[in-house]
Amino acid sequence: MAQTFRVLLSDPLAPQGIEVLKRHPELKFESKTGLKPSELAAIIGPYDALLIRSGTKVTREVIESAPSLKVIGRAGVGVDNVDLEAATRRGVVVMNSPLGNSVTTAEHAIAMMMAMARQIPSATAAVKAGRWERTKFMGAEVCNKILGVVGLGNIGRIVADRAAGLKMRVIGYDPIVTAEAAARLGIELVSLEELLARSDFITVHTPLTDDTRGLIGTDAFARMKKGVRIINCARGGIVDERALADAIISGHVAGVALDVFVDEPPPPDHPLLKLDAVVATPHLGAATDEAQVQVSIDIAQQVADFLIRGTITSAVNIPALSPQELEVLGPHLSLGEKLGRLCAQLISEAPNTLTVALGGEASNLKHDAVTAAVLKGLMSGFLDEDLNLVNAPFIARERGIRIAETRSREVTDFVNTLTIAVTTRSGEHEVSGAVLGNRALRLTRIDGYRVESVPEGYFLMLHNRDVPGVVGAIGTMLGQAGINIAGLELDRDRVGGTALSLIEVDGPVPPQVLEKLKTIPAITSAVLLKL
Ligand code: NAD
Ligand code: MLT
Repeated sequence: MAQTFRVLLSDPLAPQGIEVLKRHPELKFESKTGLKPSELAAIIGPYDALLIRSGTKVTREVIESAPSLKVIGRAGVGVDNVDLEAATRRGVVVMNSPLGNSVTTAEHAIAMMMAMARQIPSATAAVKAGRWERTKFMGAEVCNKILGVVGLGNIGRIVADRAAGLKMRVIGYDPIVTAEAAARLGIELVSLEELLARSDFITVHTPLTDDTRGLIGTDAFARMKKGVRIINCARGGIVDERALADAIISGHVAGVALDVFVDEPPPPDHPLLKLDAVVATPHLGAATDEAQVQVSIDIAQQVADFLIRGTITSAVNIPALSPQELEVLGPHLSLGEKLGRLCAQLISEAPNTLTVALGGEASNLKHDAVTAAVLKGLMSGFLDEDLNLVNAPFIARERGIRIAETRSREVTDFVNTLTIAVTTRSGEHEVSGAVLGNRALRLTRIDGYRVESVPEGYFLMLHNRDVPGVVGAIGTMLGQAGINIAGLELDRDRVGGTALSLIEVDGPVPPQVLEKLKTIPAITSAVLLKL
């Protein structure tokens, strides 16, 4: 019988996501909402997966009370309600739905900007209260104004696109976006200082991290134009609330639109709630039917795929990787895992050290993620544990594997290279690969020998003395055994020295055929590799 997994929903999820779960007989789900962390910790023990929105606080206590937990699925973007470090240590994958509510949230930011610029909430309240105050609610046009977008990820980019439609001039700041990429989106990339100084409207779309907490604070306000207007539909705390209130009271900031607060709900005596210049909504950025259906379907499907098929989509605890970075990194992660797996088949004992060297264009990649992929491939060769990119580095540290990471911008044989070297008590092996055209993987060196093979499927790796007739003898022997040769790579250290043959075969080579190959006099070793 197929393995079954218990899934707990601890926040309400749109029914369409629940339908996705129901389609999989392997998933048994229950819904228990509104639990405090201690109550969740008391019941989470048997569950394999936890599905949440922003209401559930997944604390260390919760994670440590969950020995079966494999995945936390967040229906939405922000995972600041999950103790990521605790989840990572335990190898629990934390997934989110990075795109499901982007359009909805960007539309909310634009709606909030317009509502603030034209004082629509106050004007509505006045009309409803019977006051027809046509001169009181003077607004500001957005046309031709400069919008500064801080954070050009999924939501920031959509905001920029919609603002361009309103004929605003969009400038942006994001440390991982290049000027060329921004220009393709119609955004002028500037420094944060320049953005603060030039913008008429500033909207933030970053995650809340130690770097972004208080990013827009007293110093930032001092750099802004008088009369600037601020929008925060990302996370409470990116804009310092006390400094913001002061800047409004002093008349420096003309208007503020907030969907998010440090404490939600904010206390009734919160200073910002007393100010007419503030337009506020109760964390409604993602609150449309369309977005809630989408994030619910996304996360249910991702969690189902992970539990049933082991695939990981949009995991956020591969350290600090945005979806955009992951897109670039994906092939290098696959290559890293392949090279790790190859090394695992070259060694016969546990590794002591691993060096992961990124070269050429690959030197810009997130090293820790590539190393995690290499470790996953390497350790899966000798550990009987479920490894993933999340817990592989943690388990490697536990096992005492010493890891070194190097990078060099120098371009050698390929525009990007990944080289890994593994030492054991009895020696060292070094293999290299490259990603061609951003997608095609190539194995390019094995222990100093040049090859150029797609690292996929079965390979015979043979060392032999460089004498005539060896390839013919191998071909004859494989032919007699009914084994088809799909590809052949040869290299040697010098004429008449030692040669390496890497022979791609269509399927596994039985051990007796390997033994027979070793009887060819010039052959000194024969290994079957599966990549
Ligand atoms: P994203 O990961 O796609 O983009 C975030 C961007 O911020 C990245 O490009 C990153 O490089 C950039 N960034 C990080 N640190 C920065 C810094 N110090 N300065 C400038 N840029 C920086 O995320 P997203 O999907 O666009 O979401 C953005 C934010 O919106 C998140 O905080 C998310 O939780 C929040 N959000 C809120 C609601 C809501 O209901 N109000 C809904 C969805 C998302
Ligand atoms: C998010 O990060 O996706 C938002 O905060 C929306 C939410 O979950 O309410």
